[in-house]
Amino acid sequence: MNQKQTPLYDALIQHKNRKSISYHVPGHKNGEVFLKEAHPVFQNILNVDVTELSGLDDLHSPSEAILEAETLLADYYEVKKSFFLINGSTVGNLAMILSAVSEGDEVLVQRNCHKSIMNGLSLANVRPIFIAPEFDTEWQVAGGLTLNSIKEAVKSHSQVKALIVTYPNYYGMVTNLKEIITYCHERNMIVLVDEAHGAHFKGSKKLPVSATELGADVVVQSAHKTLPAMTMGSYLHYNSERVDLGRLKMFLRMLQSSSPSYPIMASLDLARKYIATYEEEDLQYTLQMISQFREKMNQIPSIKLLSYKGEGDPLKVTIQSRTELSGFDMQSTLEEFGIFTELADEHNVLFIFPLLKRGDLYPIEDVWYAIKKGIGENKASERNFQKLTKGNSISTLQMSYKEQQKKKVEIILLSKAVGRVCAESVIPYPPGIPLLLPGESIKSEDIEQIYSLLEAGSRFQGGENITQHNIKVYQY
Ligand SMILES: Cc1ncc(COP(=O)(O)O)c(C=O)c1O
Repeated sequence: MNQKQTPLYDALIQHKNRKSISYHVPGHKNGEVFLKEAHPVFQNILNVDVTELSGLDDLHSPSEAILEAETLLADYYEVKKSFFLINGSTVGNLAMILSAVSEGDEVLVQRNCHKSIMNGLSLANVRPIFIAPEFDTEWQVAGGLTLNSIKEAVKSHSQVKALIVTYPNYYGMVTNLKEIITYCHERNMIVLVDEAHGAHFKGSKKLPVSATELGADVVVQSAHKTLPAMTMGSYLHYNSERVDLGRLKMFLRMLQSSSPSYPIMASLDLARKYIATYEEEDLQYTLQMISQFREKMNQIPSIKLLSYKGEGDPLKVTIQSRTELSGFDMQSTLEEFGIFTELADEHNVLFIFPLLKRGDLYPIEDVWYAIKKGIGENKASERNFQKLTKGNSISTLQMSYKEQQKKKVEIILLSKAVGRVCAESVIPYPPGIPLLLPGESIKSEDIEQIYSLLEAGSRFQGGENITQHNIKVYQY
């Protein structure tokens, strides 16, 4: 197929050029009716923010431009069927889980999956078997699952229906997903992959291989994270004999808006063309810029530039503090220089580079200057690294999702919580691997670990209760 085509974007532009008169939703009427002060900012986008008009197809039952655009997408990723998503990978993950597994099924799940995966498990009322990922003690972040930990879990749960993993992790690390998929498929297990951070992998052999090419059954990608697409624009790729396509379509229809955003969908069409026509020389150019950046970073003693142990996403660059400044402090310092990064944790700051085309300029020097000025002049100091982790451990729920949905919750003292069923996620950073999840039984070791993490100054995601030495539990 001709990947230079953009059928949905073209249809939208054709409609705009007709200078049609709007007697339909949305209420801004092609931008004619809008607050004057914001009009200059919004006007171009409002011109194409339309609805399912003649010639513009229907996301939920596509037969024209959207179908053509989704067919080009499937052709590029070499899968049976691809879908545009207008509510992020969040909705993709929910639909992927609901369509692939049923109430009561046993499902292996990477313990530090995104909350949309956890919500999907709860909505589907499955029986999750959580496997904790490896913890990288140098980076102080959670990596992926090992084949051995999956084999171990299958030994005690032979009826398991599916595996859900995140690939790559936020920091661009990848696992050996090929051997994991082969092992699971030999057992007729479904493999569902949250590839939110890897939509660009298909763009070059120099990037890690996409889960779509490794044979995963369903793959969800946030196109908006690493491709030039609008926020919330994502892709779902279906490539399975094991998951029912009709069921998947049904859940996508149920979970997504009946008024999908045309600017988002058109940006997904354009982002597919961008990556499909991205040339090796473009990537070479981008990687050269990143490599120059890395060389400069290496000359600043107050930070350590982290490198992947094996393969990883070269667009992600992580620096680690070598001073008293935490990752959060480094992030706010950079913000004072007008540089906003993707993420900070206790020790690290993560930069995501764009997929530049040859000749494109990007203000990389500015980052180097800000790091040198804002961070580089701090005194070197040893970082206090955590070793505590539940690496490779396997756990199940004490209370099913169905029961949890019926129960009331209460907040009690941590010191009184042993034996109770947890009603919140307790996620210390680092390692970013949940220590407790809703429905799990609270053990004395868990409480000891929370106290020791609190003492070491760890932060907990959404952890207001924990920092006050409380925890949310289900009532008896
Ligand atoms: C691993 C992972 N999966 C899914 C999501 C949700 O993606 P979206 O923002 O596209 O809904 C995120 C968002 O950060 C993520 O990091």
